[in-house]
Amino acid sequence: MRSLEEIRAILVGDSAIHEEILSRAFAVRSGANGGVYLRGLIEISSYCRRQCAYCGLRAANSSARRYRLSHEEIIAAARRVKACNIGTVVLQAGEDAALSRDFIAGVVADVGALGLVVTLSLGERPYDDLACWKDAGASRYLLRFETSNNALFKNVHPHVPGLGFDRADVLAWLKELGYEVGSGFMIGLPGQTWADLAADIIKCGTAGYDMIGIGPYVAHPATPLYGVSGAGADQVPATADMTRLVLALLATEYPDVNLPSTTALATVGGGGARAYLAGLSAGANVVMPDFTPDGVRAGYDIYPGKASFISAEALVEDLNKTLATAGRPVVPGAGHSRHYLLRTGRPQQRI
Ligand code: 5AD
Repeated sequence: MRSLEEIRAILVGDSAIHEEILSRAFAVRSGANGGVYLRGLIEISSYCRRQCAYCGLRAANSSARRYRLSHEEIIAAARRVKACNIGTVVLQAGEDAALSRDFIAGVVADVGALGLVVTLSLGERPYDDLACWKDAGASRYLLRFETSNNALFKNVHPHVPGLGFDRADVLAWLKELGYEVGSGFMIGLPGQTWADLAADIIKCGTAGYDMIGIGPYVAHPATPLYGVSGAGADQVPATADMTRLVLALLATEYPDVNLPSTTALATVGGGGARAYLAGLSAGANVVMPDFTPDGVRAGYDIYPGKASFISAEALVEDLNKTLATAGRPVVPGAGHSRHYLLRTGRPQQRI
């Protein structure tokens, strides 16, 4: 395990040390460890009660297009995921109170009945909701901590008045309930310093997440952070290169953890299978094609230019071909995190 100071020195280091880290990460995902897992992402609602300063879905953005999928629409999208031979569905949404505990429990049961592993990503929800959905068959939950700098987090992620819990509570509950837990952070959030970024990387290890999702911050014109330059000389750049370096550090520090090559990274890289390969060649091992129905997909406008505007089926076909040629074949199955299987005492279970 590297110390915070060692990680910070690598981040601000020269291209020779960066190349070395990238080549070590490449080696982590070679041979039998080179398989790539796909997840079918379904963005089930663009309503959100929060006011996050970076996100286009913030409640105050009156120009955002809001939609909420019906039970039937979600199941139809999940069937498309299954037809692409993908083993896991990710149901993601803004923090939408109209997605009731019972509605989600019903969806989880029916998606599970299709033989798909269910991952939820629905924001900060009460303990009883999370417990109910686990009982209904959900296996995994994604909730990024966004930044380990508490002052910065409070600034960009205002608390909901009267809400009796916060994001740290929810992350702790998810673990307690036995979920496979994914968290992560943004690269280049205005105000994020090099020391903050090093602390973000360390936190992923100390918190023991099973999956770590990271991507570059992409400025959205309808948010208060638009045009804000941040921490001056010490500001981390929101670039593809910096994201690749951080992926490589995460893959070498935490080789058992699943790491997606995210849509935000693909967006700054121009989209398509090649753009995802930029993350995979830097240590990522998961891609999440977007199966949100075409008619509403543009409404899930977290940041501009989201690289998801080719159909999921076309992207999956492209990934199957391009990744096989690159020696990183798409592999079927649930794609559990080895970190999760080890910490729950099931090292022999098939990933
Ligand atoms: N740029 C990049 N990533 C963003 N997210 C939200 N807004 C932005 C943005 N403007 C990320 C957050 C959130 C995830 C769903 O999307 O990290 O957790």
